[in-house]
Amino acid sequence: MSWELWNAVDRYTAGLLVGEDEILEQASAASSEAGLPAIAVSPNQGKLLHLLVRIHGASRILELGTLGGYSTIWMARALAPGGSLVTLELDPDYAAVAVRNLERARLSELVQVRVGPAADSLRALLSEGVEPFDLIFIDADKQSTPEYFGLALELCRAGGLIMVDNVIRDGAVVDPATTDTGAQGMRRFLELAAAEPRVTATTIQTVGSKGYDGFVLALVES
Ligand code: SAH
Ligand code: DHB
Ligand code: MG
Repeated sequence: MSWELWNAVDRYTAGLLVGEDEILEQASAASSEAGLPAIAVSPNQGKLLHLLVRIHGASRILELGTLGGYSTIWMARALAPGGSLVTLELDPDYAAVAVRNLERARLSELVQVRVGPAADSLRALLSEGVEPFDLIFIDADKQSTPEYFGLALELCRAGGLIMVDNVIRDGAVVDPATTDTGAQGMRRFLELAAAEPRVTATTIQTVGSKGYDGFVLALVES
């Protein structure tokens, strides 16, 4: 078993069930031309986010970690009529690339890109008294995931979904002595989620074009 095989399977299956999409391919190309790291969700993962939004009938989505807006486009396209998405990004240059990609995707009216540290933006959303979100995708700096999870719980409606990316980190998550600060963050996040009576959750390991990683899906209980 190797990354080459996982990647080939990802390409084969995405070629069949995800297909080609000029807007998404342009968004990826523009992101890489602008020097953004190649860490967006894969096409198969983007389609999973899209399906979750549709299955859930989400009309209010919050994303932490915009990068070039690739996952944003997948989710925004699945929004119920009248829906909207807020996405948080630290880096103003990345956010500018995302804004341009969202314009090309004709999604600018549905999506608000907020620039700054996600924790500050989350606290600002809370103090603005925004309507609760139906789905929150946490995919920013991994070491801050425990803090983001706590704030996301305050911003998510009962019955809402919280999805957290990059929980497995090549398996580093099982090592209590790991020096990977991201994996340390994910261990603390998993312990928090385990002790949190407001959620019921599961962890799914994944392999594919992005290597060996995984995600947590959590349902916020009423
Ligand atoms: N969701 C994107 C990928 C996000 S990569 C996609 O799948 O297409 C993680 C992003 O989090 C990067 O763009 C990084 O700049 C951003 N980030 C890092 N630290 C952050 C912080 N403190 N606040 C908000 N965003 C942050
Ligand atoms: C990284 C971030 C991600 O969101 C991801 O899916 C993969 C890698 C990173 O920061 O290295
Ligand atoms: Mg990610």
